[in-house]
Amino acid sequence: RTVYVNGEYLPETEASVSIFDRGFLFADAVYEVTSVLNGKLIDFEGHAVRLARSLNELGMENPISKEDLLEVHRELVRVNEIDEGLVYLQISRGADSDRDFVFPDPEKVKPTVVLFTQNKPGLAATVKPMKVISIDDIRWGRRDIKTVQLLYPSMGKMMAKAAGADDAWLIEDGFVTEGTSNNVYIVKDGKIITRGLSNDILHGITRAAVLRFAEEAQMEIEERNFTIEEAQNADEAFFTSASAFVMPVVEIDGKALGNGAPGNVALRLREIYLDESL
Ligand code: PDD
Repeated sequence: RTVYVNGEYLPETEASVSIFDRGFLFADAVYEVTSVLNGKLIDFEGHAVRLARSLNELGMENPISKEDLLEVHRELVRVNEIDEGLVYLQISRGADSDRDFVFPDPEKVKPTVVLFTQNKPGLAATVKPMKVISIDDIRWGRRDIKTVQLLYPSMGKMMAKAAGADDAWLIEDGFVTEGTSNNVYIVKDGKIITRGLSNDILHGITRAAVLRFAEEAQMEIEERNFTIEEAQNADEAFFTSASAFVMPVVEIDGKALGNGAPGNVALRLREIYLDESL
């Protein structure tokens, strides 16, 4: 596989980043995941805009123009022959000469830009009915910034796995915030209910697209908080992310939703999303 590091295309075995990189030492880095279907990037524009916002919120300079970033994405998809898969992008504040909590002088230390592809054949065709558990949301308060502080989401996935489930939904002050790596929805009497945007959740690019398609299809949408009990009593549930598109949730904390099969709204939105993206 060919990867990209700071302006260079290299075989993955020859690519490297300093041990003093702040992404490595402090999780001082942001990332994006853009899906690829039929060799085409999905929603690149949305990801580029969110990346610029994440960098800005952390006072990091944007080291690469949108046009250049698009070119790197396309080149990696091309050389790695990605038909279905993902492009991962990470920008850290860079490698200082030592470990120091204080941000380095941006004139001296430049951000580290890394991109690589992941080949995922069958991504679009795979619909897995998901089982989720609920766990406390103990992440920091700026989940709208897409940082690489992913230890707790990673632990959440492991807790889910240990419980025989696929993912965890995070609960804060009694309400569901989001999944470990996705935005979540419930459906009741045909109405799609999802938490509104704030600093408490990542503003999903897939979420924006799916809500737009739902609106165009005259589906009713309510943006508000909901509890895990309300979710357990919903007709159906699903989640969205760049790597899963729209995925039906059929069980929450051991309770089957509806008849226990993927719901019609979720399946229909997935179909629309893939149709529109392809
Ligand atoms: N995760 N919420 C969280 C916490 C996420 O990590 C993600 C994405 C989303 C969905 O955002 P989008 O639709 O823009 O992908 C919501 C990516 C895919 C990941 O970490 O792999």
